[in-house]
Amino acid sequence: MGTPKKPVRRSHAWFGREGKQGFYYRSWLKSAGHPHDMFDGRPVIGICNTWSELTPCNGHFRELAEHVKRGVYEAGGFPLEFPVMSLGETQTRPTAMLFRNLASMDVEESIRANPIDGVVLLMGCDKTTPSLLMGAASVDLPTIGVSGGPSLSGNLRGRPVGSGTGVIQMSEQVRAGELTQEEFIEAEACMQRSKGSCMTMGTASTMASMVEALGLSLPENAAIPAVDSRRYRLARLSGRRIVQMVHEDLRMSRILGRAAFDNAIRVNAAIGGSTNAVVHLLALAGRIGIDLKLQDWDAIGSRLPCLLDLKPSGKYLMEDFFYAGGLPALMREIAPHLDLDAPTVNGRTLGDNIADAPCWNREVIRPLAEPVRPEAGIAVLRGNLAPDGAVIKPSAASPHLLRHRGPAVVFENIEDLHARIDDENLEVDEHSVMVLKNCGPRGYPGMAEVGNMPLPPKLLRRGVTDMVRISDARMSGTAYGTVVLHASPEAAAGGALALVRNGDMIELDVAARRLHLDVSDEELARRRAGWTPPEAPARGWQKLYFEHVQQAHLGADLDFLVGGSGADVPRDSH
Ligand code: FES
Ligand code: MG
Repeated sequence: MGTPKKPVRRSHAWFGREGKQGFYYRSWLKSAGHPHDMFDGRPVIGICNTWSELTPCNGHFRELAEHVKRGVYEAGGFPLEFPVMSLGETQTRPTAMLFRNLASMDVEESIRANPIDGVVLLMGCDKTTPSLLMGAASVDLPTIGVSGGPSLSGNLRGRPVGSGTGVIQMSEQVRAGELTQEEFIEAEACMQRSKGSCMTMGTASTMASMVEALGLSLPENAAIPAVDSRRYRLARLSGRRIVQMVHEDLRMSRILGRAAFDNAIRVNAAIGGSTNAVVHLLALAGRIGIDLKLQDWDAIGSRLPCLLDLKPSGKYLMEDFFYAGGLPALMREIAPHLDLDAPTVNGRTLGDNIADAPCWNREVIRPLAEPVRPEAGIAVLRGNLAPDGAVIKPSAASPHLLRHRGPAVVFENIEDLHARIDDENLEVDEHSVMVLKNCGPRGYPGMAEVGNMPLPPKLLRRGVTDMVRISDARMSGTAYGTVVLHASPEAAAGGALALVRNGDMIELDVAARRLHLDVSDEELARRRAGWTPPEAPARGWQKLYFEHVQQAHLGADLDFLVGGSGADVPRDSH
C-alpha cells in the first residue's frame, strides 16, 4: 500500500496491512467493485441500517442509505452499509422492547468488529433509535444520526387520523357502538399512507426529536417527512459531515455531555413527548457514562410548557410540525430554558443552530408566552406503591383525575385483563383505579406497551373517557389518559404492585408526586410472605434478559451492558 493519509485510524489496522492479512481484509471487499485506492487510509464510514420489510416504518432505508453514501463519497470517505437487527413496533411479539438491548449488542459488536472509523445510524421505528444509540455509545466513535422521518398525515374520509392515537380512539368508538367495522377496516389503509414512522408525537417522533435535541443529528432531522426530498438531502449532508467528523475525531462522548441530556429532557416537555423517552435516555446515559437519574426528568423537565399542538395530546401531525418550522423553530422558542453552548455534530453549538430558525405557523408551534399547556413533561411519583418511582405524563391526563382516591380493580396479567374487561358484571365504576400487574421488564417479559388499559365498555357507553390506571408497563407514545406507568420495582420483582388486591384504596396526587396504597405495612408484609416470584424463562435470550434486566427507573438496560468498551481494534481473525 502507498503511504496512508492518516495511519491512526482504526480501519488502517485492516486495510493498511501487508501480506496475507491485508489480502484477506481487502480482497473480499474488492468483490463489490471497490478500486484499490479506496483502501488508502480514507475514513471508512459504517452505515448502520435497520431496513426490514417487517419494519415498514423503516421501509425506505435502502434508498436513504444510498443518499448517505453519495455524501460520504463526495467528502472523500469510503461508505460500507451493514444491517443490524430491526425492531418493528407493530409486528414484534411479545414486545419490541424485549429486544432493544439485544439489538444494541448487535450494533455495538458489529461496529467494533469491523474496519469502521465513523458511523451513520439509520433509525426510525420506536426501538430502532435507542438500540442504535446505545450500541454506538458503547463504542464511542464519531457518530451521526439520520432518522427516517414521519409518514404522511393519515386521512380518513376527509378527517385527519394520527398513527396509533387514531387506532385507540376508533377502537373505543367501535366498542361503544359509534363506528362500524367497515369504517374501521377502511381506516387501516387511510392511516399509514406512506413509508415512515408514526406521524403523531409518538415514541418514534419523540426519539427522532431527542436525537436532534441531543445534538447527534443535523438540524431538522426530527420532522422532515419520510418521503420528502429534503429527507434525502439531509441524509446526503449527513454522509458528507460524518467524514469530517472522523477527521475532527468528534466522538459521540464529546456531544453527549450532561448538557445534551438536560436539553433533551426539556425538549421532550416542550414537544409533549413520549414517556418511553424516559427509559431510553436513562439507558443511553448509562452507556455513555452520564449520571442521569429518573428524578432528573421531574426536576429538569416537569415545570416546562408544552408548545407543540400535536396528537396524541393535541391537534396536528408531524407534517404540520415540519411545515411550521420543525424542531429548530420549537427549540428557538424555548431557548431560554436550553443550554445553548451544547455542542452538536455539525461542529456548531445548539444555540448557533437555532438562532435564526423561522416559525411559519404559530398554531402548531406556540409562542413561549402562549403555550398549549403551561406545565408539561414527566412527573415522577413515589410512595409505597412505587418506592423507586413511577411516571405519568400530566399533559396526556384528565385534570379532574390528577388528584384521586379510589378502590383498586386488579388484573393479574394482560390475559386476565383481556378476559374480563368486556364483562358487563365486572365490578368497576369511574372512581375505580385499574391496576395491571406483571407487565414490567421481567414480568411480561420486556415491559410491553399495555399500560393504557382499555376502559370497560359499560363505562364507555356512559360517556366515561378516562380512568386512573396503574401498572409496571409502558404505554405507546401515541396513547393518552391518566395512566401511571413504569412502577418500580415491578410486580415480578416483588414490588408492592404485586400485593394489591381488589378494593384496596389507592391515592394518586400528581401535584404532590404521591402514589400511595392505603394498606398497612403489617398487612403488606403478610401478603408478601405468601407471594411467589415468577420463574425465569428456561433458555435463550429471554433467560439472559430476565436474569440481567434492570428495573425501569434505571432504564431497563442489562446490568452488564452499562458503560462502554471503546473502539479498540480486536486481534486478527486469521
Ligand atoms: Fe413504527 Fe410507530 S410503529 S414508528
Ligand atoms: Mg410505540
